Amino acid sequence: MECTFIVYRQDPEGGSRSRYQEYRVDAGPTDKILDCLNRIRWEQDPTLAFRASCAHGICGSDAMVINGRVELACQKLVRDFKTANNFVIEPLPFFKVIKDLVVDLTPFFQKYRTVKPYLINDQKPPDAERLQDSDTQQFFEPALSCILCASCTSSCPITRANPDYLGPAALLRAFRYIYDSRDTKTDERLSAVDSEDGVWGCKSMWWCTDVCPKGIPVTKCLAQIKRMLKQNRKGRDGAP
Ligand code: FES
Repeated sequence: MECTFIVYRQDPEGGSRSRYQEYRVDAGPTDKILDCLNRIRWEQDPTLAFRASCAHGICGSDAMVINGRVELACQKLVRDFKTANNFVIEPLPFFKVIKDLVVDLTPFFQKYRTVKPYLINDQKPPDAERLQDSDTQQFFEPALSCILCASCTSSCPITRANPDYLGPAALLRAFRYIYDSRDTKTDERLSAVDSEDGVWGCKSMWWCTDVCPKGIPVTKCLAQIKRMLKQNRKGRDGAP
């Protein structure tokens, strides 16, 4: 069947203004949206720019807006949309467009790095590996599925209102290490996110959870950080 793709085009370096370009693609119901975009680029217009790599929802590079909703192009099939085979494809919101559907994720990864997204343990290394207890592992297991596609951060209304807000993806990674029983920097990690630019900036709008292509309960994970901060405060103030 013939599908129509209305694709956002912009080439800031080339000086061209933003516009939408229409392509027609012969596609089956089980074709991925990424397949269709590849077909456009390979068969019709090699100038169309978008990111993709694994095509299996692992690398997180092809997050974009498909018919008004942030999705991974490789995880959505033509038949998933009830729009009479018409598709509007746009770049991730919030980020600066480099070209067409490719956005500049530099600010996203800068914020991600500020939460020190790696295990820190300053104790003497054991003879074997450091073991995680299984209850704790299960508790933060969903956060391990994050593929850093930036869908959550680009959809978050707080991120748009406050450019200094760390954003759900960075805070989710902070959550993962705050609750890791092998990490010895829990207090430092907590104080690093204990602000309006940190976890208190989250107003539980749930948009991050709604768009996460891996089904991670992002808002709930952030709420667990808030809970731990409150518990620590109670303990410090001696409140019951
Ligand atoms: S291409 Fe890797 S997640 Fe879609």
